[in-house]
Amino acid sequence: MRVPAPGLPARVRIHEVGARDGLQNESATVPVEVKAEFVRRLAGAGLTTVEATSFVHPKWVPQLADAAELYPMLKDLTGVDLPVLVPNERGLDRAVELGVRRIAVFGSATETFAARNLNRTVDESLAMFEPVVARAREAGMHVRGYLSMCFGDPWEGAVPEAQVVRVAKALVDLGCEELSLGDTIGVATPGQVRSLLAGLNAAGVETGRIGVHFHDTYGQALSNTLAALEHGVTTVDASAGGLGGCPYAKSATGNLATEDLVWMLDGLGIETGVDLAALTATSVWMADRLGRPSPSRTVRALSHKEQ
Ligand code: HMG
Ligand code: MG
Repeated sequence: MRVPAPGLPARVRIHEVGARDGLQNESATVPVEVKAEFVRRLAGAGLTTVEATSFVHPKWVPQLADAAELYPMLKDLTGVDLPVLVPNERGLDRAVELGVRRIAVFGSATETFAARNLNRTVDESLAMFEPVVARAREAGMHVRGYLSMCFGDPWEGAVPEAQVVRVAKALVDLGCEELSLGDTIGVATPGQVRSLLAGLNAAGVETGRIGVHFHDTYGQALSNTLAALEHGVTTVDASAGGLGGCPYAKSATGNLATEDLVWMLDGLGIETGVDLAALTATSVWMADRLGRPSPSRTVRALSHKEQ
């Protein structure tokens, strides 16, 4: 039953990351045709932003080595944004060649993750992103800046808020139009989310450009999302079926499942444009391809009901 709560946005844009963040951690190679079909089904379920793949070094993320093959297979998909991850100018060159219009760079709030994920210090990675963002913006592309380890880091523990705010501000100053705050290992709780959002606002980063990217390791992803919505955030990252993790942060379990998010938003009367039944069917289909059931409680509840 729909019971709206006061003070929440009327509409939320879901930034679907299943085809990128969800699949990047899978050890068995998913055929490129299956990836293309997954993206198509996600778009067909009403998702308007479907992150498609990453133009990273194929040795670092072998699962996404087929990016240049996949992206052209999606050319006929209209009315849906298909952003891709790009860490450096080499990645940007590869993306530009294929006509990509939206990219995301991905920074870290901690030194250990920057070293493991990008082979750079935090400041060296910002220097690596600088020409990428500048060139992309000049070419009229949309640039998102991910920031990982915003609340906790598996090697460094709790991450000081000031450290997060500094790198977030640096990404915005480089020219990132949108910032996605990653709780990569899923340790945050709602008070921390509120505090970081207020800290970012105080540093001049407006809520309108902030998205949130929660992982559900400790079962906090929806509570954290609600805290962010109450603060005015309207962009929420999620992964169909709760797929994912991060190849360079072993303690990162699945992302917030898109179905769990849509169930909550539907109940609150918040528009997403997503058809939950079609999305659930997509995740069940993908789970069959991967050979194991979706960890999403909503997918399990709804697909069980259908049987
Ligand atoms: P590096 O080894 O330092 O690279 O890796 P390099 O700059 O020294 O270059 C070495 C060689 O790699 C060169 O080739 C380059 O051309 C080639 P050579 O001249 O030796 O023949 N190369 C490339 N080839 C293809 N595409 C490229 C590329 N770049 C260089 N883009 C690098 C540095 C950044 C490339 C590497 O560390 C990398 O690819 N990292 C990506 C890791 C990744 O994708 N992690 C997962 C995404 S982050 C995440 O999931 C978190 C997030 O979801 C949010 C959250 O939950 O927190 C976003
Ligand atoms: Mg993630």
